[in-house]
Formats: sequence, structure tokens, C-alpha cells
Amino acid sequence: MIDQLEGLRAIGTTNENDIHALSWDDGDKPYSQQFGDHFYSQNDGRAETAHVFLAGNDLPQRWHSHDHFQIAELGFGTGLNFLETWRQWCQHRRPGQQLDFTSFEAFPLDAAAVIRAISAWPDLMEQAHKMARRLPQLTRSPAAWKLDHQTTLTIVKAQALEGVGTWPKKAHAWYLDGFSPQLNRDMWSSQLMEQVFAHTHDTGTFATYTSAGWVRRNLQSSGFNVKKIPGHGTKRHMLTGVRAPSGGSS
Ligand SMILES: C[S@@+](CC[C@H](N)C(=O)[O-])C[C@H]1O[C@@H](n2cnc3c(N)ncnc32)[C@H](O)[C@@H]1O
Repeated sequence: MIDQLEGLRAIGTTNENDIHALSWDDGDKPYSQQFGDHFYSQNDGRAETAHVFLAGNDLPQRWHSHDHFQIAELGFGTGLNFLETWRQWCQHRRPGQQLDFTSFEAFPLDAAAVIRAISAWPDLMEQAHKMARRLPQLTRSPAAWKLDHQTTLTIVKAQALEGVGTWPKKAHAWYLDGFSPQLNRDMWSSQLMEQVFAHTHDTGTFATYTSAGWVRRNLQSSGFNVKKIPGHGTKRHMLTGVRAPSGGSS
């Protein structure tokens, strides 16, 4: 494992200045020194992903009715959300269906940090290596990788507002995963939520771990029908929402 980590560290990222400053709790839990927050719940980040982002968007169920399903995410971080989604997708997909997962990330982690974080979930490691070896290729242009014959990962290395605003596609489901709203206001601004709404298909959805009042109001005023539902672990609430079909409410 150490050899693999050293190898990935040696590759580095395309621009040393972009490296996200981290410290580590318990050896494998990344903490952002830049934002003063953890990347995910300390109480099993993978279970949080499954509850908040997959179940919160009614996945895997909604995959059944789409030949092509587009997920978009604010904040790629360690890639844990992507890896757990890819794992569940591999279990539930039908032959011929395609999943596109696009994530907007301004301060990417390097490959060694991703592998160190994901080592907490040994069954995700094979896929983590397949994903992490592409990370050194990240540049400002969107990088799209076909990770298996039915799964494409695209990372847009940009400020979220700029990245989503110029994105030529729409999502069926959004994972809103900035750091805590009071520490990372840009990731929850009304302008960004308007862009998220504009880049959501009719009947498309979002899910997020936060239930902060001002975030809920930004999402509502952008046009989403928002619901507060039980959160993961010690979090009492989280938010989900749907874009009503044009010309009606859901
Ligand atoms: C809570 S972490 C995401 C965790 C991630 N989804 C995972 O599975 O590990 C938030 C991420 O948002 C990124 N971020 C913060 N502000 C941003 C901005 N304005 N635009 C784009 N990305 C941003 C951070 O670099 C960080 O990787």
C-alpha cells in the first residue's frame, strides 16, 4: 500500500498550487485546513453517502426508468460519493444503460490523498485505484473518463458557479456537497442554486446533508419544491427537492 501511495504522490497533480491543504484524523479521515471542516461524516461517511445522496435522490430506484442517467455533484472531494454510486450502479444497472457522473471541484485532492481516505472502505479500493490514476490528468477543461462500459466520470475543475453556469447539460439528480454552509457560503449561494435549478431536468431532484434555513430558502426561491427529511446519524434533518414539470407543480 505504501509503495502505491508513494507512486501516486510522485505523479502529483497538474498544478502544485492547487493542492488542497489537509490534515488527517485517525489516519484515514481527511480534514480540510483550507475550509476548517471534514469532507464527510465521522460516523461512517459511506453510510452517509448512501442515505443522503443516493436514497435522498430516490436511487437506485429511479435508474430503472432511464436508458441514460445524469448525476451532477458540487464538490468531488475524495470521490467517496462517486465510488459508492458506482458500486450501487454496478449492482442495479441493466445491460445498455449508461450513467454519467459529473462533478464540479475547484480544489482537487491529489491521488494519494484520495487513496488514503478511501482505504477506510476496502471493498471500494479496486474502483478507487481505477479512478485515482486519472486525477493527475485534471486541468481546467472538463476531463471525462469512461471507467467501465456503462459508466463515465467527468470532473470539471472550476469554481462551482462558473462550472455549472457554463455546463451544456442537465442533471436528473444533484448531490449538493459543499462544506458546511457557514464555512463555504459560495457553494450554497442563491446564484449557484439558480444555476443548479436551470441545469436540472423536469422532475429532476437534489439532495443535501444540510437543512440550514438560508440554504433551504435559496433552493426554494430558485424553483425547487423542497422537503426536510430525517438526516444521517446525529443529523436530525437534511433536504431533498424536485423540479416540478414545466407548467405545473408536483
Ligand atoms: C464536503 S467536500 C465534498 C466531499 C465529496 N463529495 C466526497 O465524496 O468526498 C466539499 C468539496 O467542495 C469543494 N469546494 C469548495 N468550494 C468550492 C467552490 N466554490 N467551487 C468548487 N468546489 C468547491 C472543496 O474543495 C471540497 O472538495
